Amino acid sequence: MKEIKIESTLYIYQNLDELPKEAIELMQQAFEARENAYAPYSSFSVGAALLLDSGEVITGNNQENASYPSGLCAERTAIYYAGAQYPKAKIIRMAITAGSKKTQTTKPIPPCGACRQAIAEYEIKQNAPIEIYFMGETGKVAKSNSLANLLPLVFDKSVL
Ligand code: THU
Repeated sequence: MKEIKIESTLYIYQNLDELPKEAIELMQQAFEARENAYAPYSSFSVGAALLLDSGEVITGNNQENASYPSGLCAERTAIYYAGAQYPKAKIIRMAITAGSKKTQTTKPIPPCGACRQAIAEYEIKQNAPIEIYFMGETGKVAKSNSLANLLPLVFDKSVL
């Protein structure tokens, strides 16, 4: 038996103002996208913004459904749109903000496992890391230089 250790690195910023200017701008677009979330069942709204290598920004938000599992998270709404509309573009950076309409979220909220898997697919497809910034409504912001840090032991095409 051999033990293996898996390490991930995240950077924690004290607040939005500490981020590089281009990341602040992308996060602001995630906040705007979050305003249009359709989340009548959970009252938890999420906004995501993706910067493409063309300079274009794609945004998405969570879309819920009376048949709960039919809904989709903000991150996948955005990334599948980017994949569908701009299949050749590379995604440089992603900003995510999430929070309940009932309470104020002050800590970084990471993307769910299914979204990490979806983002991983595009990171592998484009063979270049996607920077990910995520936060709640206010407070600290977490940054990962690559999705790979958020999903060790990814399931990918190499096993198919
Ligand atoms: N949600 C997202 O949009 N992204 C995530 O990474 C986690 C969860 C949405 C799905 C659902 O509409 C609501 O948040 C509560 O789970």
